Amino acid sequence: MSEKYVRTEVSGSTATVTIDRQAKLNALNPRVVAELDAAFGRLRDDGRVRAVILTGAGDKAFVAGADIGVLAEMGTLTGTEVSRSGQEVLRRIERFPRPVIAAVGGYALGGGCELALACHLRVASERARFGLPEVGLGIIPGYGGTVRLARLVGLGRAVEMIVTGDMIGADKAAETGLANMVVPHAELMDRARALAARIARNAPVAVEMALASAYGAVESTMDHALEFEASLFGLLASTDDMREGMAAFLEKRKANFEGS
Ligand code: COA
Repeated sequence: MSEKYVRTEVSGSTATVTIDRQAKLNALNPRVVAELDAAFGRLRDDGRVRAVILTGAGDKAFVAGADIGVLAEMGTLTGTEVSRSGQEVLRRIERFPRPVIAAVGGYALGGGCELALACHLRVASERARFGLPEVGLGIIPGYGGTVRLARLVGLGRAVEMIVTGDMIGADKAAETGLANMVVPHAELMDRARALAARIARNAPVAVEMALASAYGAVESTMDHALEFEASLFGLLASTDDMREGMAAFLEKRKANFEGS
């Protein structure tokens, strides 16, 4: 599939995936979603990439939601399918083995907010606006929004956003934990790249296992999560990167991680 709406650039160890459908504020139609899925599929096999930045083109929107024109055509069965297929793509992004950073410089509404929630980190510019306006359209968030938002910010705050449909600004998003940080609008991409570069200095396999352990824990019991953490910890003890990281510390030099 040739890319119409999603472009990917790799620079050093960071990939940037940009959704570019500016005439519709980067709204997610089935083609955008399929291209997004394909882009992350390709990046999964790209050994250079240690972090991914996901953003929306233009100054106005990250993603202003699922395409309402498409949603308006749904019937009962297709509605379930629309929700499921979107959920699956976002789940693959959440399970991407390297950190995915959403760089949000405008509207992140509905499916756009849910997409940001499926990323591991969110950098918001002062112009970011997050919201789940679905109930105003007679639906509910269907790409995991009712599930992930509560896990991130707590049930009370999530329910408030979901049942009012109101947008919140960047400062409130950071205060509630929805955004990891708020940065000046003009610096959004530089700050996201700096965060990606910071992550890329660490041992790649350890970063991958850290994500697996933290996300696994949310979906598990305490005992299973602790057991899983211990086994990943044990696995890392067999990596060259662990030996390199510790040797570098003891020899007072910078570690050179190979990801093995
Ligand atoms: N689906 C389809 N088209 C969308 C869209 C969406 N989710 N969000 C924006 N667009 C389109 C608009 O229809 C408009 O297209 P047009 O120029 O062909 O009429 C274009 O993007 C620009 O949007 P517009 O509404 O003119 O910009 P605005 O600055 O006045 O308002 C928003 C911006 C984000 C407040 C407004 O577009 C909006 O409320 N969008 C829908 C958000 C939503 O409910 N998302 C959840 C969907 S489940």
